[in-house]
Amino acid sequence: MKIGFAGAGYIINIHAKAAKNNGLELAAVAEKFADKAEPFAKKFRIKRQYETVEQMLVAGGVDALVIGTPNFLHASQAIAALEAGVHVMVEKPMAMNAVEAERMLAASQKSGAKLMVAHCWRFDDEVNWLKAQTQKLGKIIRTKGYGVHTNWGPGSWFIQKALAGGGAMADMGIHALDTARYLLGDPQPVRVYAKIGTFYKDFDVDDTGVILVEWDNGATSYIESGWWQPYSDGPEAGTQLYGEKGFGQLFPTRLLLPNPEAERVNEIKSGFKFPRKEHCPQSMYDAQIAYFIECIRENKTPIPGGLEGLANMKVVDAAYESSRSGKAVDIK
Ligand SMILES: NC(=O)c1ccc[n+]([C@@H]2O[C@H](COP(=O)([O-])OP(=O)(O)OC[C@H]3O[C@@H](n4cnc5c(N)ncnc54)[C@H](O)[C@@H]3O)[C@@H](O)[C@H]2O)c1
Repeated sequence: MKIGFAGAGYIINIHAKAAKNNGLELAAVAEKFADKAEPFAKKFRIKRQYETVEQMLVAGGVDALVIGTPNFLHASQAIAALEAGVHVMVEKPMAMNAVEAERMLAASQKSGAKLMVAHCWRFDDEVNWLKAQTQKLGKIIRTKGYGVHTNWGPGSWFIQKALAGGGAMADMGIHALDTARYLLGDPQPVRVYAKIGTFYKDFDVDDTGVILVEWDNGATSYIESGWWQPYSDGPEAGTQLYGEKGFGQLFPTRLLLPNPEAERVNEIKSGFKFPRKEHCPQSMYDAQIAYFIECIRENKTPIPGGLEGLANMKVVDAAYESSRSGKAVDIK
């Protein structure tokens, strides 16, 4: 399996290490800036370098492409690859908006090439421990989740609307959103209310957000997004589940199950240490790319794929619209 990479920045270094850890062939990189491309190619012994994904595709010799470029490039790079029959794993947010996401999904459905969206928390051991326990909670009524950077935020293209699409909501809130949706069993969003704004820095994307999502299974998710926030109740993707029969939580990861007869609350510990040594461990990304390759080899539709990425983009679009209009937005 020959893997190509779009971009040579922070996350692509992690994906390249994951590809190496999985014994894949790191075949080529498409990166606009030579000062980024060269050290990356040297570090991972990648022989072929291109300025654009289109040049890489013309040259051929790549079975799958991992896209870790600024968000404005995701749709065009993914569609070019999918149309050339090259499988794609694209970083979150999948695109600038749901319209682009729909075009990516259509390109994958037309060519048959796989499209996976790198919603990485679905590959985390603690997230999957909690997911395996959710039936003990009964019906989940509401969730609370966090996609917040405290006393820190990114710079560069992340803080330019034309290149990023959105700010902390699209960048970090989406981790909390996708984690809540995954734990709820991937319901469809039906309505969103949000207040999103820029209060901590001077740029044209948001640094603070509170959103409420109503799902078609009756559950409601409350999500906080932010960069440069003075505090957060939980780390990235930290999620709480309030079920009819009990409470479940990520980071620290555990269940609290009331036992009214004994007048006590039973704690079921996951055994994972909190805080974690590394909050975003390499093992999560190793498992993620291993699943992408498994989907290609076994001809399975990846989950999270285009449909999951699109559901998230619809919520992100609706959240920005709701915040602008001051009204709840129905999602069709
Ligand atoms: N899942 C995660 O844990 C996670 C973490 C960080 C970033 N991300 C996502 O990954 C993507 C990249 O983020 P990053 O932090 O690696 O950013 P980055 O700025 O470190 O890397 C982006 C790379 O794209 C390159 N680039 C810029 N313009 C280009 C162009 N026109 N053509 C080709 N390459 C170009 C840059 O030179 C850089 O090497 C974003 O979508 C981000 O949301 C995901």
